[in-house]
Amino acid sequence: PHVCRLYIKGEKQFYYRAQQFYEDVPASEEGMMGDFVEISKVDLEGSRQFLKRFGPGKAGTHRVLDCGSGIGRVTKGVFLPVFEKLEMADMMEHFLLHAHEEYLGADADRVETYYCFNLQEFTPPKNKYDVIWMQWVACHLTDKDLMNFLIRCKKSLRPNGVIIIKDNMARQGCKLDPIDSSISRHLDIMKVIINKAGLEVLAVEKQEGFPDVIMPVWMIAMQ
Ligand SMILES: C[S@@+](CC[C@H](N)C(=O)[O-])C[C@H]1O[C@@H](n2cnc3c(N)ncnc32)[C@H](O)[C@@H]1O
Repeated sequence: PHVCRLYIKGEKQFYYRAQQFYEDVPASEEGMMGDFVEISKVDLEGSRQFLKRFGPGKAGTHRVLDCGSGIGRVTKGVFLPVFEKLEMADMMEHFLLHAHEEYLGADADRVETYYCFNLQEFTPPKNKYDVIWMQWVACHLTDKDLMNFLIRCKKSLRPNGVIIIKDNMARQGCKLDPIDSSISRHLDIMKVIINKAGLEVLAVEKQEGFPDVIMPVWMIAMQ
């Protein structure tokens, strides 16, 4: 996993750039999806199916935490019908405000807490969540910060709870995108970070139905 760190010369700059990048991103589904809003439907359907494998009877459906939630595209499209209580965490206030004031509509009141934090500095409450979902945000953390965040997440799971990462995975090694400060890692590198955090991989699945031009997206469930 040390491979990725080579690409990141200054951590401060790495995080600063992402901050700058998302300040200019509109609070909309288009903004959340980059240039690929048309794959949002397929993405959400893939997530619903993957989540089913860990749903009722297994992970529980009491409470979910959507990390790097943005405006709550996944919360709205996947979690609202499944979980009783929902929480969201994102570093950008304007995304969370938009979620609450507009995007989630009347369901916004079912979101118990909106945490406006950088994940690298955020400690979710202990023993609280059945599912912690991180979509397209693990790529915005350095190896070390991702590992440490996963360690904190593990402590905030309820019994049988699962953490799910859904992200771009490099076809080999690590790839830094300097525009939005994101690193895509090969699945094997991701697994090393997960294991170092003391978590066990339960299942991995590739998201099908995405165009070939975009990087492969994988879902990894762990506990
Ligand atoms: C590509 S968007 C994905 C949003 C959402 N997960 C989805 O799938 O629709 C990435 C999100 O991660 C957030 N983000 C990026 N870096 C972050 C960090 N270090 N801490 C917290 N949130 C971060 C951004 O503000 C943005 O909302």
